Amino acid sequence: MNFLELAKNRFSSRSYKPQPVERETIKNVLEAARIAPSAANKQPWHFLVFTRQESLKKAYQLYHREWFKQSPVVILACAEKQNAWTRAEDNKNHADIDLAIAIDHITLQATELGLATCWICNFFVEKTKQMLNLPQNLEPIALLTLAYPADSPNVERHKTLRKKLEEIVSWENFD
Ligand SMILES: Cc1cc2nc3c(=O)[nH]c(=O)nc-3n(C[C@H](O)[C@H](O)[C@H](O)COP(=O)(O)O)c2cc1C
Repeated sequence: MNFLELAKNRFSSRSYKPQPVERETIKNVLEAARIAPSAANKQPWHFLVFTRQESLKKAYQLYHREWFKQSPVVILACAEKQNAWTRAEDNKNHADIDLAIAIDHITLQATELGLATCWICNFFVEKTKQMLNLPQNLEPIALLTLAYPADSPNVERHKTLRKKLEEIVSWENFD
């Protein structure tokens, strides 16, 4: 697959096969996050990986959808806010941007390996912090499912659900 094909094939899968994901495959996907760019190369991220039944039982309580509980792997992407680059002019902390890039690398690498993912930001944030006893410096940003999909991408759907290029791009004349 060339890159655009890969990007079009990535989709939010919400139905998974029970088949476990090999540890080496999970590591391969996480490697894509590791090499992601970040502001000032701060790499302000940490990934919690849930694969065993006891830990998955906890992870499944962090989001309310039933399909989520089918995923044999759950990754919680956290930001180390204090370690992220902050722009001096307006004090903007770039952790969220850095995390988004790393997570997107994960979703694309997973797609390349025939795996499916779904970003989840609508999870129970406070419960997550408490249940996992997260240290103060770790902010949970997103849950990610990682599994062999039981559904398939509808590449045509991307074309209809996405805005047209003309709607999102301005060329040259901005006034
Ligand atoms: C930052 C972010 C947060 C998201 N949070 C959720 C979520 O909490 N629950 C969910 O089912 N999907 C979530 N999604 C998936 C989006 O709904 C999905 O990416 C979007 O509808 C486009 O569909 P596609 O991923 O299949 O291309 C999230 C996606 C992103 C990028």
